[in-house]
Amino acid sequence: MVDMTVRIGALTLKNPVMPGSGTMGEGLARVMDLGRLGAIVTKTITPEPREGCPPPRMVEYKDGSLMAIGIPCKGPDHYVDEILPQYRAYPTPVVCSVSAPTVDAFGRLAAKLSVAGVAAIEANISCPNLEQDGRAFGMDAEASARVVRRLKESTDRPVWAKLTPNVTDIAAVARAVAAAGADAVTCANGMLGMAVDVENFQPALGNVTGGMTGPCTRPVILRMAWQVARAVKIPVIGSGGVACARDALEYLMVGCAAVQVGTINFVHPTAMLGVIDGIEAFCRRKGIGAVRALTGAMRPRQDFREDQAA
Ligand SMILES: Cc1cc2nc3c(=O)[nH]c(=O)nc-3n(C[C@H](O)[C@H](O)[C@H](O)COP(=O)(O)O)c2cc1C
Repeated sequence: MVDMTVRIGALTLKNPVMPGSGTMGEGLARVMDLGRLGAIVTKTITPEPREGCPPPRMVEYKDGSLMAIGIPCKGPDHYVDEILPQYRAYPTPVVCSVSAPTVDAFGRLAAKLSVAGVAAIEANISCPNLEQDGRAFGMDAEASARVVRRLKESTDRPVWAKLTPNVTDIAAVARAVAAAGADAVTCANGMLGMAVDVENFQPALGNVTGGMTGPCTRPVILRMAWQVARAVKIPVIGSGGVACARDALEYLMVGCAAVQVGTINFVHPTAMLGVIDGIEAFCRRKGIGAVRALTGAMRPRQDFREDQAA
């Protein structure tokens, strides 16, 4: 028997695998038992109903997709009344992803959702900060920290900060949110990109730019997860291009305590079950009794010389 449990701060998860926010369609419950997941992560909830971005919203690539969805949301009441009760029926912690245009609005939203019995709050700080220059909160270490501080004042639930990869120094942002009291960091959201519809001489996405996700992003996000795990003591949750157990193992070995699985859910709706079973099989094959032992298990290369690194 392999002990598959992991601890994310005060929360114990039955295994280290959960969906990335927004990638677990409500229909997923028809094809798999959501009770097998380490956690259920909701789509990002915003303080007010939102339409989302104009179409087209997605450009598909062989090994990933570029998307500008713009967080369409029916508002927090809909989630509290209609969606959360369905998720809470499973023996699985529910993590509520939240986003807001101001620090105050983040706090009010988290307070509202905390009374609905969620296990943790994940702050999606990839959204524009309307009190400053409109850049994403997550692009600025101090703005990210302000969101986390306000969330910690507003909820007694653990607060996870989901970082944006669209920064020069992601470790600096991770250190800032950890110092502000974040219980965990998720690394990371989509990588900013764009595409051109050359036939029509116009941007391919209605929003012009969007987030690149899926397996093709994994080497970049994995590198960031490794940097973040070295920079902070709080648990790191890897999110970028996990499609199978081997991909998840990479994240665990560079220092993550858990992984989120996103884009692949749209291709193989039961992919998360394969990731869970594959991690367990790997542990058995390697004689590892507890999956926790994999976190940070990557050994340094003997032939690596930092002074000569590219
Ligand atoms: C269709 C789609 C919708 C998403 N919606 C959200 C969202 O609402 N909130 C959020 O924080 N991330 C959202 N994401 C980002 C994912 O949660 C995840 O962090 C990202 O896709 C990287 O993981 P992946 O490469 O496994 O897809 C979305 C991604 C996709 C593909």
